[in-house]
Amino acid sequence: MIELEGLTKRFGDKLAVDRLTFTVRPGVVTGFLGPNGAGKSTTMRMMLDLDHPTGGEVRIDGRRYARLKEPLKYIGALLDAKAVHGGRSAYNHLLCLAQSNRIPRSRVDEVLDVVGLSAVARQRTKGFSLGMGQRLGIAAALLGDPEILMFDEPVNGLDPEGIHWIRHLMKRLAAEGRTVFVSSHLMSEMALTAGHLVVIGQGRLLADTSMSDFIGQNSRSFVRVRTPEPERLRDVLSAVGVSPQVAADGSFEVADMEAAKLGELAAQHHVTLHELSPQQASLEEAFMRMTAESVEYHAHSTAGLADAPGDREGAAAPRGLEEGGDGGVAGGREDGRVGDRVGDRVGDREGGREGVPVWGADWSAKRRKGSAR
Ligand SMILES: Nc1ncnc2c1ncn2[C@@H]1O[C@H](COP(=O)(O)OP(=O)(O)OP(=O)(O)O)[C@@H](O)[C@H]1O
Ligand SMILES: [Mg+2]
Repeated sequence: MIELEGLTKRFGDKLAVDRLTFTVRPGVVTGFLGPNGAGKSTTMRMMLDLDHPTGGEVRIDGRRYARLKEPLKYIGALLDAKAVHGGRSAYNHLLCLAQSNRIPRSRVDEVLDVVGLSAVARQRTKGFSLGMGQRLGIAAALLGDPEILMFDEPVNGLDPEGIHWIRHLMKRLAAEGRTVFVSSHLMSEMALTAGHLVVIGQGRLLADTSMSDFIGQNSRSFVRVRTPEPERLRDVLSAVGVSPQVAADGSFEVADMEAAKLGELAAQHHVTLHELSPQQASLEEAFMRMTAESVEYHAHSTAGLADAPGDREGAAAPRGLEEGGDGGVAGGREDGRVGDRVGDRVGDREGGREGVPVWGADWSAKRRKGSAR
């Protein structure tokens, strides 16, 4: 179990994490969502004591991370797949971590096998692809066979087989009764993997709820109706006080009536239907609705770029954003701060006190031991 209480982090003027209070429980995969810069990675870093909170605290199974002896046996984490010494082999990287936590050498071979890296175990990690680095990071997280696992964007760079594999791995770990906390921007993947969601925006907690409640509360469900007689169907519906919305492809979206009732009504009036399908809102739509106000970094408009095939039909903006017109994700910011985040962060990290490279989850424990002497 991971418990956060009033967790806060300020970097100069920037309030990156703002009084977060929530609990990540065992037995279910908890997805951690938020737009770019929302504070997800900073929160995860504070969970591992890699960033020091400005206020509040985090407890790992009731204790502060700094108090955990051999922390890899309590909590395993993949935060930054590139945080490995490029000159070391995958095997030696894991062996160093294992030895610092009194984990037997045999476990290194085991986890290399689990993540599918046995064949390249003796190769230097600097030659690893993005996906191989992710797999190595996952191996490091599993090394101590911990009850709590935390992954920051673990599917980043993985091939479809790898994405499928990690989805099942996380579900299996949760089914074994472990606490699994994972961030991702891949909403379709998250919808398949997580049972619970914690959503943040601009450092603040926006939701801490089950996946089904989150989608139900933040999206609109409707029935899609397609007919070659749209005028007749519109008349039939308006006679019972229902006014459908017309989608870009000409189909009707009816929010106030169930599919069965709609079908019966059309049959009574001999209106031909080509489609009658209840639409389940997606996690992506619900997420974009909830976080529309909290998105800090908007892309420039794509004017001048040709539409990708298939982009024309309803893919430009989620319903509600395009209708309401306020806070749409596609619009650029007036202050011109578009895309300046990466530069900010590199500068901040290099110049800041916390701009030190991190060599895995137990690095801070070593640092602490070193500074305590
Ligand atoms: N070391 C640092 N120095 C200064 N500012 C930082 C530092 N680390 C993070 N920030 C700032 O804190 C905010 C939250 O960043 P964080 O990386 O936690 O966001 P995130 O939710 O993980 O975003 P993403 O989805 O892009 O990974 C950002 O505004 C970022 O610029
Ligand atoms: Mg991040």
